[in-house]
Amino acid sequence: MAQPVSSGTTRPAARRKKMPYWVEPLTTLVVLGTWLLYSLWEVLFHNTGTYHNYISPYFSPGIAGWFGWHILTALYVAWVPFLFRFTCYYYRKEYYRGFFWDPPGCAAADAPRKRYSGETKWPLKINNLHRYAWFLALIVLLFLWKDAVEAFIFPHHGFEVRVGSLILLVNVVLLTFYTFSCHAFRHMVGGRRDCFSCGGKPSQSYRFWSRVSRWNAFHGAWAWASLFSVWAADLYVRLLLMGVIHDARLF
Ligand code: FES
Repeated sequence: MAQPVSSGTTRPAARRKKMPYWVEPLTTLVVLGTWLLYSLWEVLFHNTGTYHNYISPYFSPGIAGWFGWHILTALYVAWVPFLFRFTCYYYRKEYYRGFFWDPPGCAAADAPRKRYSGETKWPLKINNLHRYAWFLALIVLLFLWKDAVEAFIFPHHGFEVRVGSLILLVNVVLLTFYTFSCHAFRHMVGGRRDCFSCGGKPSQSYRFWSRVSRWNAFHGAWAWASLFSVWAADLYVRLLLMGVIHDARLF
């Protein structure tokens, strides 16, 4: 007898189904809202994010320094990752549910409205920029890799591993998975093709697309993990700058 095919429902998904539908959007509202307020505080009220060889991901690359600008220095670059996250397909689902309650969850009643224009009209039309935001985010990511390498090279000490070095490294690794598990990137590397084997054998793009698809299955997890790592990396540098903590050397 044929075995029933799995519906693909994972255990966490099954657990979520047992929760009231409003738990997830409410959690999103609280966590994303707190992160947004923190980010505004960081970007609008601080002009430096550099502590010796560490640079906060909010301030990198240091565009303001290149041109000698001294106010709102994080703003010149922070808009890129913000735009990338704001237009991300995964975050759209999360903030449509958490912030707009529209709809609050699967199979949950939606608020009645006269007409629905969705992402065909401003301001939500901006979400169509996601594939372009991906390229900008990639440039920022390359700078963050440079920062992560430099976080292991200390003036007068040479190569050392400190807590801050590891935090910046973990952050850029998680951001890399978040960036390359993107739905738009998956589309670019092969998802847009109608046929992978029209040449007689699976094409290189099929192999690439398959790999990206495996990362893409966890895109939501990369999205949250990288959000927390960016937050942690910035907070760590900020606390060092404020003299609240000291950077511990591991070896
Ligand atoms: S879909 Fe989330 S980063 Fe592109």
